[in-house]
Amino acid sequence: MANLAVLASGNGSNFQAIAERIAGEPHRLCCLICDKAAAYALERARRLGIPPYVVGYAGRNRQEAEEQVIQILRRHDIDVVALAGFMRLLTPLLVDEYEGRIVNIHPSLLPKYPGMNAIAQSHASSDREVGITVHIVDHGMDSGPILVQRRIEHNAEESLEELEQRIHALEHSTYPEVILRVLDEVEDGQHAYRQNARRMQ
Ligand code: GRF
Repeated sequence: MANLAVLASGNGSNFQAIAERIAGEPHRLCCLICDKAAAYALERARRLGIPPYVVGYAGRNRQEAEEQVIQILRRHDIDVVALAGFMRLLTPLLVDEYEGRIVNIHPSLLPKYPGMNAIAQSHASSDREVGITVHIVDHGMDSGPILVQRRIEHNAEESLEELEQRIHALEHSTYPEVILRVLDEVEDGQHAYRQNARRMQ
C-alpha cells in the first residue's frame, strides 16, 4: 500500500476521478490540499470523506506556504503527490522533498502549449492531433519527464467547449491509471522516474 495526496486549485474533477478509481485498490488517497478556500474540489473531498486542507498563499512567500504543505504530507505519510489543476509553480523545497514522486496532468501534448490556456491554444492551432500529458514534476513549468501522452484527432469544426469536454474525459480515464502505476512502483521500491519515463511511453 502507498499513500497519495492530491493538490488542486479549482473544480477538482480529476481529483474526483482519482478518488473513485483508487477506492477499490490497496492504495490510499489520504488528503486533498487546496490553495483556494473557494475551490469546489474541497466540497468534493468532504462528500467523499477525504480530509480537505486549505493552505493559503496570500501574504507570504511560496516557500512558507509549501512548508505547511510538507507538514500535511508528512503527517499523512505521503508517498506520491498528484497535482490536479494546481495552479502554482512548485518551489525546489517541495519538488526536492518528493523528487520523482510528484506527478502532474496537463491538457496538451507537451512540450506544446505549457502553462495557462493549453486547451484554447490547442483548439486555435492547426495541429492534426491534440491531447493530454502526464509527467513527473521537475523544477520547470510543465517540463518534467513524460510518463504518458494520449492523443485525439483535432476536429476543426468543434467548439472550444466540445474540445474541453473531450480533453477532460481523456484526463479522467488516463490520470488515475497512471497514478496507480506510480503507486504500485513506489510500493515495490521500483520507482525511478527516469526509468519510468522510458518504460511508460
Ligand atoms: C485539467 O484540465 C488539468 O489538465 C489542468 O487543470 C485542469 C483541472 O481540472 N492541469 P479539474 O480541476 O480537475 O476539473
